[in-house]
Amino acid sequence: MSANDSPSGQQTTTSASLDAVRHATHDSAFLKACRREPVPHTPVWFMRQAGRSLPEYLKVREGIAMLDSCMMPELVAEITLQPVRRHKVDAAIYFSDIVVPLKAIGIDLDIKPGVGPVIAEPIRTRADLARLRDLTPEDVPYVTEAIGMLTAELGSTPLIGFAGAPFTLASYLVEGGPSRNHERTKAMMYGDPQLWADLVDRLAEITGAFLKVQIEAGASAVQLFDSWVGALAPADYRSAVLPASAKVFDAVAPYGVPRIHFGVGTGELLGLMGEAGADVVGVDWRVPLDEAARRVGPGKALQGNLDPAVLYAPAPAVERKTREVLDAAAGLEGHVFNLGHGVMPTMDPDALTRLVSYVHEQTAR
Ligand code: CP3
Repeated sequence: MSANDSPSGQQTTTSASLDAVRHATHDSAFLKACRREPVPHTPVWFMRQAGRSLPEYLKVREGIAMLDSCMMPELVAEITLQPVRRHKVDAAIYFSDIVVPLKAIGIDLDIKPGVGPVIAEPIRTRADLARLRDLTPEDVPYVTEAIGMLTAELGSTPLIGFAGAPFTLASYLVEGGPSRNHERTKAMMYGDPQLWADLVDRLAEITGAFLKVQIEAGASAVQLFDSWVGALAPADYRSAVLPASAKVFDAVAPYGVPRIHFGVGTGELLGLMGEAGADVVGVDWRVPLDEAARRVGPGKALQGNLDPAVLYAPAPAVERKTREVLDAAAGLEGHVFNLGHGVMPTMDPDALTRLVSYVHEQTAR
C-alpha cells in the first residue's frame, strides 16, 4: 500500500510501525470476533462511548467547541482513551464526528450542542456538487497524528476508525441539518436520480479516502455509520444507496481490516447492508440477533444489540436484558456486544462499566 510505495526513510518507519500495530492487536477478542474466530470472551464496546456522560470528558472539553476538539490531536487521543481506561472495553473508537471530513474539504458547517451538524449552505443543485472536492491526507493531518499517539498507548487494544455513510452524510448536506423525515433528501433521490447518484458517489470517494487515512495511520477496523438509512424501503436502498456504500467498502477492502456497517431502524435492510460489503453487520435493538443472523445470512459477524434505554433500569433488569441478547447470540458465527445505538448523554457511566464486566464474566470460555 502507499506506505510501502515510497523509498523515503519516513515512509518505511511508518510502514514498520503499522506492522507492529497489526501484530499487537491481531489476537484481541474484538478482531477475532469480527473474523468469526473463537474468542476468550465476547468483546464489548459502545457506539459513542467517547464523550457523552463521562465527567473526565466534560472536564477536558470545557470551553472547546466540538469541531475544534476534533482537530486537536492530544485532546482526541485523551478522549478516545477515557472509556477504555474506565470501562475496560475491548476496543477504542476514534473521537471525531461524521462531518469532520466535510469540514476538512471546506464545507461551512458547525456542530450545534443539543442539535447536531448544521450546514451553512446546503447542497441541492448540480452546481453545488463542485463544492465536494476530493479529500487528501494533507486535509486531515490531525487524524494521522492523533492515531499515531493512540496506537502507541493502546497496545493490544484495537482502535476503530469510522466515517458517515453516503446516505447519512447526504441527508445532513441536503437538509442543511438534522431531519426527522428527510424530505428534501428523498425529493432529490426520487426527483433527480442522476444528481442523487452523483452526490452519493462523490461522498463515497471522500469517505473511502477518509477511512484509508485512518487505516494507514493504524486503525485496526472501520465502522461505516449509516445512522438514518432506516428511513428507506429495501428497493430504494438497493438502487439509490447500496452502490455508493459498496464503493466505500471496496475502497478499503485491500487492507483486510474488518469493516462494520451500522444503521438504526434497519431491520428490513440487514441483508442488503451485508451485501454492500460489510464483514460485521450492526443491529439495532428491534431485531433479535438470531433473527438478524437469518436475515444477514452466513459469512458475517453481527454487532449489537442491547436497547440503550435498558441502561436506565435497575441493575437486575440490565442483567436480564443483557442475558437475552447473549442467548440470542449463542449460535452466531461471531458476536461483538454493543448497544443497539449510541451511549446517551444522561447515562450513568457506572452502569456501562458494570455491563462490560457482566458480559465478560457471562461469556468467559
Ligand atoms: O463513538 C464515539 O464515541 C466517537 C465519537 C463520535 C461522535 N459522533 C462524537 C460526538 C461518533 C462515532 C459520532 C458519529 C456521529 N455523529 C453519528 C453516527 C452515530 C450515531 O449515533 O448514529 C451521527 C449521526 C453524528 C452527527 C451528530 N454529531 C449528532 C447527531 C450529534 C449530537 C448532537 C447533540 O448534541 O445532541 C453530534 C455531536 C457529537 N458528536 C457529540 C459527540 C461527543 C456531542 C457534542 C458535544 O459533546 O459537545
